[in-house]
Amino acid sequence: MTSDSSTSLSQARPRILTGDTPTGRLHLGHWVGSLENRVRLQDEYESFFIIANHHALTTRVEKSREIREDTLGLVIDWLSVGIDPKKSAIFIQSEVPAIAELSWYFAMLVPFNRVMRNPTLKTEIESKGLGDHYSFGFPMYAVGQIADILAFRADLVPVGEDQVPHLELSREAARRFNQLFCGVDSHADDAEHAAKGVFPIPEPKVGRIARLMGIDGAPKMGKSLGNAILLSDTAKQVQKKCNKIFTGRQSATDPGKIEGNPLWQYHDAFNPNADEVADMKAQYQAGTIGDGDCKKRLAQCINEFLEPVRERRIALEADPDHVMDVLRDGTKRANEAAEETLWLAKQAMGYDFFPRELR
Ligand code: TRP
Repeated sequence: MTSDSSTSLSQARPRILTGDTPTGRLHLGHWVGSLENRVRLQDEYESFFIIANHHALTTRVEKSREIREDTLGLVIDWLSVGIDPKKSAIFIQSEVPAIAELSWYFAMLVPFNRVMRNPTLKTEIESKGLGDHYSFGFPMYAVGQIADILAFRADLVPVGEDQVPHLELSREAARRFNQLFCGVDSHADDAEHAAKGVFPIPEPKVGRIARLMGIDGAPKMGKSLGNAILLSDTAKQVQKKCNKIFTGRQSATDPGKIEGNPLWQYHDAFNPNADEVADMKAQYQAGTIGDGDCKKRLAQCINEFLEPVRERRIALEADPDHVMDVLRDGTKRANEAAEETLWLAKQAMGYDFFPRELR
């Protein structure tokens, strides 16, 4: 036998860590931004998918029980689009204590003002109308997200464009840790960090469409914005929403515009027939095809994509025990990985007072 397996710290495959906050149902924007990459990459990477239920508390602490429901709903959304629990670990953030512990250490490695300048945080404060009333825990989630990622020593983080600032923070914290505690040089490149440090420098991977527009023409599809097509919508709901897409066109004989028009962004994303799309676009610009026909065809394409998703959802909703088993198993795997990282980090810091094992 070769001694490969004896070096328990060498990771067989590069790792992915990513996830979502449980705030309700996922939509097509989540699919093109990140879910599609997760499904595609789960063979190649050892994948961990986090349900960030601590993060959900930061703005809804009084709704903890609702968040519990959303946590289970999120698992169903993930499994229904093709995340395979045999390949990937799906886990609950609050059940992996090493993440909370690592958050303490990373909180010391990023300047407070640097966290508060994070544009994603700023946008959220504005869009959720938090003013200056947000809890201490709210900005803390940005530090927690560093720990989510680094606890798995992730190489790749598939995310929507809005999460990239969090990745920047994670990269800075990983570098800082490796420099302070692993003797990595301040000018070291990412490869050197990976070789000598506890933490590899994680890379974001943004989906093929960085930001899907809302059906109302807003720059971003968002569940709370009321402009989303949900992965859980029925065929009828999809048809209705497609019919409502705001294209800004006055009449069917006007030359229509393609750029910045959600109708065509969605065709590009969900119509598998590129020739047909090109042809329809040409007619649309010439004013020889109406919005109605293009929307109808789009609804068909989205429904074809969602049909197998719906079938899997029905089976999953009928089997809540299976959903709990997936979570239990994924959380166990996540704890093994995160405990190992925490121990490495503590050793590097000289905080390795005694080893421990989670029961
Ligand atoms: N903040 C992310 C969101 O709201 C969810 C999340 C939590 C996450 N921890 C993560 C994403 C780690 C990527 C990596 O969508």
